[in-house]
Amino acid sequence: MQRNQIPSFEELQKPLASFGSRSLYYKSVSFLLRNFGMFSEGIRIGYRHGFDSGNIMNYIYENDPQGSLYIGKAIDSAFLNQKTCKAFRAIKNIQKDFISNYLNERQGIKTVIADLASGKADYIYDVMKESNSDVNVLLRDINKDTLAESKEIAEELGLSENISYEVGDALDKESLKKIYPKPNLVIEVGLYGIIHDDEQIRDHFKALKEILNPDALLFNVQTYNEQIELIARALINQEGEPCVWHLRSVDLVIGWAEEAGFKNPQITMDPYDIYAVVMMRG
Ligand SMILES: C[S@@+](CC[C@H](N)C(=O)[O-])C[C@H]1O[C@@H](n2cnc3c(N)ncnc32)[C@H](O)[C@@H]1O
Repeated sequence: MQRNQIPSFEELQKPLASFGSRSLYYKSVSFLLRNFGMFSEGIRIGYRHGFDSGNIMNYIYENDPQGSLYIGKAIDSAFLNQKTCKAFRAIKNIQKDFISNYLNERQGIKTVIADLASGKADYIYDVMKESNSDVNVLLRDINKDTLAESKEIAEELGLSENISYEVGDALDKESLKKIYPKPNLVIEVGLYGIIHDDEQIRDHFKALKEILNPDALLFNVQTYNEQIELIARALINQEGEPCVWHLRSVDLVIGWAEEAGFKNPQITMDPYDIYAVVMMRG
C-alpha cells in the first residue's frame, strides 16, 4: 500500500507556527468539532472522555450512528466512517480471533487471561459469549470508571461470574506483582501508542516476562496513520491534552519483546494498514 509522508512523532509534539496555513486549518477543524461536532454522540464522548479512552473505543466498535437532530447523526456517521475508526473495528475482530484460537489451542484446559489496559474489553466479552472454554479473566485499567461500566456490561451479558476487575497501572512493576493467579495469556491492546517513551515499553516487556511470564502475549502496534496529525492537533486524550499517538514499526516493538524473551511473533495487519496485531509466546 502506498504510504504518504506524515509528520514524525517529535514534530507532532511541537505546536505549529501560529499563523501558518496548517495551524489555521487544524484550529478551524478543532473549532468545528468542539462546537458543531457536539451534535454527534461519538465526538461528544471523545471530547468528554478522551479519544484514547475505553469509552470511545466501545462506541466505535458499536458502529451505530447517534446524535441530536439529523445533522448530529450525519456527523456521527461521518466520524464512524473515518479510516481510523474502521481500523479499530477491524483490529477488534483480529484480536477476537487471536484470543479464540488461543483458547482452542488450550483444548479445555483452564485458562487465565489478564488484560492490562482493558478499557471495556469488548473483544474479550465477544469471545466469552461464543466460547465454552474454562476461562477466568482479570481486567485491569488505570480508569476506574471505565472498569465499573465494563462490569455493568458483563453483568447484563451474564458473564461477570468469571471476571474480576482491578484498577492498576500496567507500567508499575509493584502493581504487576499483585496479579494472582499468574495469567496464561496477557493482553495489551491500544496501549503502546499512547506511551510516548520507547524505553518505558522496552522495560515493560522485561517486567512482563520477569513478573508474569505468560505463555502468550497479545498486543497491537499502530504503525502508520494518515490521520495522525489531525488526531494530534484537533483531538484530546484522557488527560485533556493533545491526542498525540506514537507510531512505531512493528519490527521495532517485536524486537523489544524478543529482547525480553518473548518469541514466535504471529502478525496480522488490519486491511487499512494502520495497526499490526501481534501474538508472541513466552
Ligand atoms: C485506547 S484504550 C484501549 C482499550 C481497550 N484495550 C480496547 O482496545 O478497546 C486505552 C486504555 O488504556 C488505559 N490505560 C492508559 N494507560 C494505562 C496504564 N499505564 N495502565 C493501564 N491502563 C492504561 C486507558 O484508561 C484506556 O482504557
